[in-house]
Amino acid sequence: MEYVKIGNVEIKKTAVLAPMAGVADRAYRILNREFGASYTVSELISAKGLCYSDRKTEELCRITERERPCALQIFGCEPEFMAKAVKIIEQYRPDIIDINMGCPVPKVAGNGAGAALMKDKALSSEIVRAVVAESKVPVTVKIRKGWDAEHVNAVEFAAAMEEAGAAAITVHGRTKDQMYTGKSDMDIIREVKKAVSVPVIGNGDVASLDDCLRMYEYTGCDLVMIGRATYGNPWIFREIDSYFEGKPFTAPDLDERLDTLLYHLRLALSDKPDHIAVQEARKHAAWYLTGMYGAASFRARCYSLSSYEDAVKLTEDFKELQKRNSKK
Ligand SMILES: Cc1cc2nc3c(=O)[nH]c(=O)nc-3n(C[C@H](O)[C@H](O)[C@H](O)COP(=O)(O)O)c2cc1C
Repeated sequence: MEYVKIGNVEIKKTAVLAPMAGVADRAYRILNREFGASYTVSELISAKGLCYSDRKTEELCRITERERPCALQIFGCEPEFMAKAVKIIEQYRPDIIDINMGCPVPKVAGNGAGAALMKDKALSSEIVRAVVAESKVPVTVKIRKGWDAEHVNAVEFAAAMEEAGAAAITVHGRTKDQMYTGKSDMDIIREVKKAVSVPVIGNGDVASLDDCLRMYEYTGCDLVMIGRATYGNPWIFREIDSYFEGKPFTAPDLDERLDTLLYHLRLALSDKPDHIAVQEARKHAAWYLTGMYGAASFRARCYSLSSYEDAVKLTEDFKELQKRNSKK
């Protein structure tokens, strides 16, 4: 088994879980780590929010041992706030600090942070230097292909971030303008890999073991990062991990899928207030059922879950439906 080193942090060369605000919370990270994700990254955390002691923002920083190695990802566009945020999050002992330079949403990019930083290499370098100077752990950067089709600059930008002290670069092969449309460009990831000597994490549209292998082979990247294809599907990590470990992989049957849905909900309930955990579990429940017979007719029930018992009843009824269908 190969390992990749980001600074002093060893990461198994299988696949890593992408940061996803509103999705990849602690429960999600623990679950996917248990299924084989080799590294996890927190939801994006506002550096300013941390500096103004916002409790909700700090709550995003808590890391359990079961998620490690785990990065805390911060965003902002002022070097002083970013450096101060590093001091604050130190107490949560992140293994790595990741800087978000790829977020396209107006609340972030519209304020000069996230993907907007790709338009200002000098400021971005200053941010990386300021964060590296304060941080005791490796600092990485997550970027996109560029701002828009006229401003594709991931290669020069990544080289500048390495120069400023970044210990690894994640590249999502879409421009900010593309948001999540079109196809992620593997060529740009390959070009970035050629241009820098720190590890490169390839990201975008990896939805299967084959996609993951193609990403490794075509781009030469050091690690592959997976986001949306993990929705209701932590088995993607198990399959990739099994492949690299030379172990057989069996796709989950209905019982395993539904048991995992309930396990996921229990993890969430042990981490967040019940009403929030259950409310957030609704979309996950719908994702776990996606593609199975009768899933569409259960979607509304997923979106009205109001307790753990509701979820148990839903899985029982769904199993019953599958049984009846198989007898037809
Ligand atoms: C719901 C959602 C939330 C996201 N939140 C973040 C985030 O907080 N920080 C970040 O760097 N990227 C974020 N991303 C981008 C993903 O990390 C990833 O780059 C993108 O989804 C492409 O990978 P994929 O095709 O495997 O999903 C988010 C994506 C989604 C779909």
